[in-house]
Amino acid sequence: LILTQDELKKIAAYKAVDFVQSGMVLGLGTGSTAKHAVDRIADLLHQGKLKDIVGIPTSKKTHQQAVSLGIPLSDLDSHPVVDLAIDGADEVDSNLNLVKGRGGSLLREKMIESACKKFIVIVDESKLVAHVGASGAMPVEVVPFCWKFTQDRLQNLFDYAGCVAKLRTDNGGEKIFVTDNGNYIVDLFLEKDIGDLNVASGAILRLAGVVEHGMFLDMATTVIVAGELGITIKNK
Ligand code: A5P
Repeated sequence: LILTQDELKKIAAYKAVDFVQSGMVLGLGTGSTAKHAVDRIADLLHQGKLKDIVGIPTSKKTHQQAVSLGIPLSDLDSHPVVDLAIDGADEVDSNLNLVKGRGGSLLREKMIESACKKFIVIVDESKLVAHVGASGAMPVEVVPFCWKFTQDRLQNLFDYAGCVAKLRTDNGGEKIFVTDNGNYIVDLFLEKDIGDLNVASGAILRLAGVVEHGMFLDMATTVIVAGELGITIKNK
């Protein structure tokens, strides 16, 4: 039995939705894995198996999906405490630290997921890594003003790790990718381990011009991994 990557994403997403209870304020994640969770929540609402759910979407895209499915929505201003958030990730390490934001929604995701009591991350096994940041883009959201200056400063910061910083474009074309918040994304490609993640995080956030980065450290409370051999649940 060979499952596709999308089937594995769906298995992880459905498992996470087992933890949703009626009356919860829910952070609704973004991306191809979280999309299955949002679909599933809407199904259970329509079947009457879940009631009184309030969703807080982590992107305009998820907002649209949730509206089209009839999920009641709110925001952090009205609901500053979120019971549970369910979202995907680009990388997950053995300490449940994450890289997120390759879909561009890192800022809203981090705002909502740092305000929740429980944060369940759903991934297929291809997302598991030994060191976060070592296998693909590490996204940093920056203000458009003098983005080249900020990009250079980011690259210099991680010179010791062979960092190459690149402004994100729409599908790698000419058009600059713009986030839901009107900002740009600089993707950091690191050749070597960046070392202590909290130190790296602090250094990035201290740069004027940076809005947020895609390392989600010590935030996930549970990671659900779907693989060919079944589901693994890791708790913090
Ligand atoms: C969106 O910006 C991201 O943080 C996503 O949560 C992440 O990219 C995972 O997306 P997929 O589930 O599509 O891999």
